[in-house]
Amino acid sequence: MARVKLEKVSKIFDKDVVAVNEVDIDIRDKEFMVLVGPSGCGKSTTLRMVAGLEEISNGKIYIGDKVVNEIPPKDRDIAMVFQNYALYPHMTVFQNMAFGLKLRKYPKKEIESRVNEAAEILEIENLLNRKPKALSGGQRQRVAVGRAIVRKPKVFLFDEPLSNLDAKLRVQMRTEISKLHNRLETTMIYVTHDQMEAMTMGDRIVVMKDGFVQQIDSPLNLYNSPVNKFVAGFIGSPAMNFMTGTLRKNNGIIFDEGNIQLEIPDVYFKDLTGYIDKKIVLGIRPENIFSANFSSGVKFPGKVKSLLEVIEPMGNEYFLYLNTGINQYVARVNEHEQMNIGEKVDIVYKMEKVSFFDVETGKKI
Ligand SMILES: Nc1ncnc2c1ncn2[C@@H]1O[C@H](COP(=O)(O)OP(=O)(O)O)[C@@H](O)[C@H]1O
Ligand SMILES: [Mg+2]
Repeated sequence: MARVKLEKVSKIFDKDVVAVNEVDIDIRDKEFMVLVGPSGCGKSTTLRMVAGLEEISNGKIYIGDKVVNEIPPKDRDIAMVFQNYALYPHMTVFQNMAFGLKLRKYPKKEIESRVNEAAEILEIENLLNRKPKALSGGQRQRVAVGRAIVRKPKVFLFDEPLSNLDAKLRVQMRTEISKLHNRLETTMIYVTHDQMEAMTMGDRIVVMKDGFVQQIDSPLNLYNSPVNKFVAGFIGSPAMNFMTGTLRKNNGIIFDEGNIQLEIPDVYFKDLTGYIDKKIVLGIRPENIFSANFSSGVKFPGKVKSLLEVIEPMGNEYFLYLNTGINQYVARVNEHEQMNIGEKVDIVYKMEKVSFFDVETGKKI
């Protein structure tokens, strides 16, 4: 059991490549923390510094209350599971799982009982005598996890462990790792580029970009209160729609995109006062857009007449790909009555659900 704390941790490669930039992360004992972000943002490097596989250029890493900067990987009491399971091909599953314990000179009895216990947790008891080449991808992944479990580490580290599996198996293994976390009650740090994995597995999520931490929060807080345009666009699928326009004063305030004009509700006025006659980014999630029948005579402040370009039926819902003539956007709707591709259709933005971002900094306003 252990808390893991990174204090202003940086990694600089080759004198000037700053892969990780003054990162502060405080992971609670028994927490499942996910590091997520696009490829190259510094997730693996951060994890490898916690593991001790990469030297720390600046800052401090604590495991428990000990600074581990100078402690070699084998003495950090952590276990890491990689994307490419790295099983020994000439060894059986049992031998693969036992290997680390054998190196550490554990008694034979203890090794057997730990391997059997891990095999039972992972439901691979019947595979113990097989060699890796006789296993499916999912089974190999379980063995790799088993090899970590037998060590009974204080902290588990996972680096994109599911990336090599097909989509269906990935979803299944994702819930199994969550269950494993509940059962073992151990601190876990899990790296992925997949925001769905992050959202479904994490107690909390660290969103990274270009070596910087953008936001650390619970999945729902990230979704509902992103601090900037990057986080808003990265979390959620289909992604949040963005359009740039100018704010104009006119009785109330209007967001003018060029082809469409939206009336902004009063509640936003206070935050937007500094942006009148300036460019601003409006964001709206696909589920906060609906199709409307204007013959009812109801006036909508968020009316967006748009060209319907593509309809994607998902079974329980539809994704509509729309175009204002200037901006493309996606709506996620339950029905699309009598709408045809290639037609101009009546669409409404729920204006009480929009967000605004600074054009230059990307910061949420
Ligand atoms: N050994 C290395 N030498 C030089 N640059 C590296 C090395 N390892 C990673 N990098 C660079 O550091 C950045 C972060 O890499 P990485 O942590 O692997 O990102 P991620 O895991 O988020 O995809 C990338 O720009 C990558 O090219
Ligand atoms: Mg990586």
